Amino acid sequence: MPKVSMVVNGEAATGEVEGRTLLVDFLRGSLRLTGTHVGCDTSQCGACVVHVNGEAVKACSIFAAECEGAEVKTIEGMANADGSLSTIQQAFQDHHGLQCGFCTPGMVMSAAALLKDNPKPTEAEVRHYLEGNLCRCTGYHNIVKAVLAASGQEVGGAAVAAE
Ligand code: FES
Ligand code: FES
Repeated sequence: MPKVSMVVNGEAATGEVEGRTLLVDFLRGSLRLTGTHVGCDTSQCGACVVHVNGEAVKACSIFAAECEGAEVKTIEGMANADGSLSTIQQAFQDHHGLQCGFCTPGMVMSAAALLKDNPKPTEAEVRHYLEGNLCRCTGYHNIVKAVLAASGQEVGGAAVAAE
């Protein structure tokens, strides 16, 4: 089988893949980075979002072979160097932006990509950006709060409208 090489969370990663192997299957199956979840396998739920060369990508929508030479970041690479939670992760914890946690890795990766491009998004911009990330538990309210908090914006009281 052909080999693919990429940099995942700052470390070189090489593996054999079939042409049809999805990036999410390479990450989970070959590299055992199971924090990236599979909710649908059809590009609808966003549970599999990772960063490829700095862009948020649904890892079920791209072949591993397409990522030859790419820089990939998964939820396992999001913590700070000392192991503490990153700002966006801490905000999800502080604002209860999760319940079962299944969608959370994808939410965090999408939110981090949003804040990179738009450091102070409005509530509407957060909701629009996260349209491709589905959550069956939280009702989204606290997820939006968490993203706004991670951007340093006030989220107390009625600052964020309920769903
Ligand atoms: S598993 Fe990729 S979008 Fe649902
Ligand atoms: S926290 Fe359960 S699916 Fe989002």
